[in-house]
Amino acid sequence: MSEISIKLLSEKELPDVIAIENLSFSSPWKPEQFIKNLPQFYCAKIENKIVGFIGVEKVQDEARVIHMAVHPIYRRKGVGKKLLTECLKLKANKFILEVRESNIAAQNLYKSFGFNKVSTRKEYYNDNNEDALIMIYEKKPS
Ligand SMILES: CC(C)(COP(=O)(O)OP(=O)(O)OC[C@H]1O[C@@H](n2cnc3c(N)ncnc32)[C@H](O)[C@@H]1OP(=O)(O)O)[C@@H](O)C(=O)NCCC(=O)NCCS
Repeated sequence: MSEISIKLLSEKELPDVIAIENLSFSSPWKPEQFIKNLPQFYCAKIENKIVGFIGVEKVQDEARVIHMAVHPIYRRKGVGKKLLTECLKLKANKFILEVRESNIAAQNLYKSFGFNKVSTRKEYYNDNNEDALIMIYEKKPS
């Protein structure tokens, strides 16, 4: 497969990201949510086409992965891994995220990077009252 490149997301690329969002989630983010968080988003490109994105919020020593998706056609080709690898380069010791209990694909991705489940938020998602798993990855001191 062609090379996957990762770069910071710019406003002109938002329509592509929103299209992936709408294909990926039953309760998608509104465009305003992306605009508000734009500086914290990276996108993945293959042959200049946007194929995925990840958003991360950094507060001091901690980073929170706030959102991520890959275009359905480009899934299972290593795009998610590449996005998460970029995100974990941030200068933070602890990375935290929430994931739906039923989202085994995402949980497997996170586990493969060393994220561990630390707790559950009961009925966290409003659309179907699904629980959220809280997963954490802590970088080992070098
Ligand atoms: C989760 C998601 C981002 C993964 O992206 P991806 O580009 O397909 O992931 P990768 O190809 O890099 O896969 C990395 C690993 O994740 C796991 N994985 C990915 N998709 C999987 C699936 N459908 N079933 C089981 N494990 C899966 C595997 O461990 C995989 O490694 P492998 O292919 O060597 O077995 C993608 O499925 C997606 O966009 N899902 C919908 C949106 C979503 O759930 N976002 C996360 C919200 S918390």
